[in-house]
Amino acid sequence: MVLSEGNKQMIRKLAKDIKDNAEVLGADALARLFLIHPQTKTYFKKFTSFKASDPSVKAHGRRVMDAVVGAAQHLDNLGEQLNFLAHRHGEELLVDPNNFHIFADCITVTLATHLPSFTPEAHCAVDKFLELVIHHLVSKYR
Ligand code: HEM
Repeated sequence: MVLSEGNKQMIRKLAKDIKDNAEVLGADALARLFLIHPQTKTYFKKFTSFKASDPSVKAHGRRVMDAVVGAAQHLDNLGEQLNFLAHRHGEELLVDPNNFHIFADCITVTLATHLPSFTPEAHCAVDKFLELVIHHLVSKYR
């Protein structure tokens, strides 16, 4: 998967909108994940509620979206940028790698419903970008 220069510009532009709303967007994406795929709740044993309004969901949502923005700011060295998270998910948390694609779908729907800047071209760029992010996040499983 290769991002064109146009894709990269689009992702960098969107990252600014995501950064300004990281908590709301992250909590919405996580709440969708937990509602649509309830088995994913098992990884978050400390959470007492799985709704977007819950403080734990908001805090974790912000962390996830900050990581997405960080990746968007390092499109030319994604592997290095995501190395810590690849290690964390693949060697410590042992999240089933199938979950990354379903979470990417939730993030995409969240961005589509919240951001007016999410044009069809932005959708295409986000789809490719998240595919690359996942590629790196699952790189430590074997
Ligand atoms: C785009 C995909 C994802 C990104 C960008 C992402 C990002 C992050 C970040 C930034 C952290 C905090 C790491 C730390 O400082 O220790 C984290 C932790 C975690 N992630 Fe992910 N994640 C993704 C996908 C997933 C998926 C699909 C699951 C499981 C269904 C998952 C489960 C967890 C768990 C259980 C933690 C630890 C939470 C805690 O310590 O309270 N992640 N993730």
